[in-house]
Amino acid sequence: MRILSKRRLRFLLTVIFAVSAVVIFVRCVVQFQLNKEIKYYKKYFKDRKDKLEGMYNPLEIKQIPSETIDRLYTDQLSRLEEQGKVVNWSKYAYINYVTDSAYLCNTLIIFDDLKNKFKTEAKLVLLISRDLLDPETSGDIEHIKYQLHKIQSLDENQVVIKYIENIVKPDDYTPWNESLTKLLVFNETDYDRIIYLDNDALLRNNLDELFFLPHYIRFAAPLTYWFLSEKDMKEAYKEVQHDDKNSINLKTYTKKLDLRIKNNKMIYNHLPSLPNYLFMNSKNVAQEIIHSTSSASPLFNFHINKKASKTKFASNLMVIRPSAELFNSIITEALPKVLSKKTKYDMDLINEEIYNFKKIIYYQFDLFRRMKSRFQPEVLVLPFARYGLLTGSIKNRQHHDLITNDILGYKRLDESGQQLETDVHTSIDDSKYIHFSDYPIGKPWNYASISEFECKVDEKHSKNIEQDTEACDLWNSVYTTYLDNRKICSP
Ligand SMILES: *[C@@H]1O[C@H](CO)[C@@H](O)[C@H](O)[C@H]1NC(C)=O
Ligand SMILES: *[C@@H]1O[C@H](CO)[C@@H](O)[C@H](O)[C@H]1NC(C)=O
Ligand SMILES: *[C@@H]1O[C@H](CO)[C@@H](O)[C@H](O)[C@H]1NC(C)=O
Repeated sequence: MRILSKRRLRFLLTVIFAVSAVVIFVRCVVQFQLNKEIKYYKKYFKDRKDKLEGMYNPLEIKQIPSETIDRLYTDQLSRLEEQGKVVNWSKYAYINYVTDSAYLCNTLIIFDDLKNKFKTEAKLVLLISRDLLDPETSGDIEHIKYQLHKIQSLDENQVVIKYIENIVKPDDYTPWNESLTKLLVFNETDYDRIIYLDNDALLRNNLDELFFLPHYIRFAAPLTYWFLSEKDMKEAYKEVQHDDKNSINLKTYTKKLDLRIKNNKMIYNHLPSLPNYLFMNSKNVAQEIIHSTSSASPLFNFHINKKASKTKFASNLMVIRPSAELFNSIITEALPKVLSKKTKYDMDLINEEIYNFKKIIYYQFDLFRRMKSRFQPEVLVLPFARYGLLTGSIKNRQHHDLITNDILGYKRLDESGQQLETDVHTSIDDSKYIHFSDYPIGKPWNYASISEFECKVDEKHSKNIEQDTEACDLWNSVYTTYLDNRKICSP
């Protein structure tokens, strides 16, 4: 008996070993072939990009610099003007959502500023939970109604208030248990393009230029830069400079892009690429992208590194082309996966299920291989210093170098390759959207005045009192502006 089972066991092990060996061998061959093809097309696009029209590079994730976003905007406005046309602003919308009454005041502040201070003509759309007006589930309904009335009164036509049902994570008592409600913005198909904004932020100008990103782009957002370490950036710079030392200079890209926009040529292939190091865990691109889409048995994937990407899309500001089809797949496929997992929220759904960088490259390349000229890219990375800054970074000196070089992997250098003396405070001043995020301070509406949480320089430990004072002053001014603005919400 024992002998038999031992023999049987040995046989079984042999079979498993043989099958594994075949699977691994086949996988190696597939990966080898795919890597060869990837290498070929990477070179193809590098060598030929100045001449290509209508063929997009499927193997890179592209970042768009602020300079280029502005250039596209002014260029399109002047083209329209030449043709005697005007922008139809009702196709565009800024969107906020509110599931917690403490956030409603922020929408009033942001919409009021957008309309009256920054003079946008795009629609201002608020999605608000129906629950908040239900006397059984909501406190202070009178105050909520008062603020809603003020929001609508900003402009009867321009402001649209929609009542929605929350998407709730069951058995979850964290502050994020209703954050998946945000996904409803993908369903706002009345608009060609929307700018979604988390409203716990200071908005310092309008963002109208973002409506005019290239038409094929369906999703654009800044990245979670705060996860990146100095070592990550060193590796990223090294990768960008691998073939050519000058390829790190952002100026060489923006100059060329300006010229191409002026001549009405395609710009996508000329945008700076996100270094692979920041979202792949190894140099084996084929393996990485194949694995990102497979849910193959763990037995055969034991050797694959499952570490998360170093950076991903932040979800506090997103430029979206709403689509019923995409929304449907979010609700029926992606959402159920996330609802059943603990500690997964809106940002996870967006990065793991919809816009995972490795998956994007996999599907892009797959489509490209089948129909070269039919493939069009859908995503872009926005510069985070202008569109995705966290308040915490203003006083975090370790983030300052990143803030002045917010196209990741590239630097703002002068003609001779020296770092331009942009000081970080100029970059912060240029920032249009600053998200309130300061652990452990929490949100500013929990305080009566700035004196309760203001930033003070620690003179004993400061390495540069002058710079630290300047950073503190800037940080305080962001919150003081908010505290002044919120007066608008009280009767
Ligand atoms: C502007 O766009 C809206 C929404 O798509 C449309 O209903 C309206 O007719 C357009 N207006 C003009 C003047 O084209
Ligand atoms: C969400 O969490 C909060 C606590 O943060 C809790 O008061 C609330 O009941 C939760 N909501 C639901 C629908 O579970
Ligand atoms: C999505 O939008 C459609 C059309 O406006 C609407 O009928 C539907 O109820 C929306 N879905 C959800 C879940 O809100």
